Amino acid sequence: MEAAHTLAELTVTSPEQMRDLGRRLAKLLRAGDLVLLSGELGAGKTTLTRGLGEGLGVRGAVTSPTFVIARVHPSLGDGPPLVHVDAYRLSGGLDEMEDLDLDVSLPESVVVVEWGEGKVEELTEDRLHVSIHRAVGDTTDEVRHVRVLGLGARWAGAELGALSA
Ligand SMILES: Nc1ncnc2c1ncn2[C@@H]1O[C@H](COP(=O)(O)OP(=O)(O)O)[C@@H](O)[C@H]1O
Ligand SMILES: [Mg+2]
Repeated sequence: MEAAHTLAELTVTSPEQMRDLGRRLAKLLRAGDLVLLSGELGAGKTTLTRGLGEGLGVRGAVTSPTFVIARVHPSLGDGPPLVHVDAYRLSGGLDEMEDLDLDVSLPESVVVVEWGEGKVEELTEDRLHVSIHRAVGDTTDEVRHVRVLGLGARWAGAELGALSA
C-alpha cells in the first residue's frame, strides 16, 4: 500500500502566479523526480511547467507542443534537465511512449508529464501529483485551485511550506 501525503493546497489567481508557483516548486525538485500534472485543457499545466523550467534554469521556452510529445530542456547550469511530456494524444501507457525512454532519462532528469495519470505511474513509486482545477463560479476565469500530492518515500514528510507564496 502506497501512502499518499497531501502536501499543499493553494489558490492562484493569475497565470503569473501559476508561473511563480512553478518556480517555487522547482526549488524542491531534483534529478529522478516525476511530476504528474492533471487538470482540464486550459487549466494551467503548461503555464506551471513554464515556471518550473524557469526555476530549474533550463534552456528553451516551455510550450504546448502540437506534434511533439516530449521535449528535453537541458540545464543552463549544472542542474538536471527538464523532460516535458504532453501525453494528451496518447491513450496507452508507457509502451506507447517507448521511444521516449523515460525510464532511462528519469534518474538524471526532472520529468513532468501533462495528462500522465494512468499512463506513467510504473516509472516510479515516488511521484508528485499536481492537480489544477478552475474555481467554480469564478467571474474573472483566472482563479485556480492547485493540490499537490506526494506519493512514496521521497515525499513522505516533505516540507512543502515553501510552495505558499
Ligand atoms: N490562474 C491561472 N493559471 C494558469 N493559467 C491561467 C490562469 N488564469 C488564466 N490562465 C490562462 O489559461 C490558459 C492555461 O493554458 P495552459 O497552461 O496551456 O493549460 P493546460 O496546459 O492545462 O492545457 C492560459 O491561456 C493562461 O493564460
Ligand atoms: Mg498543456
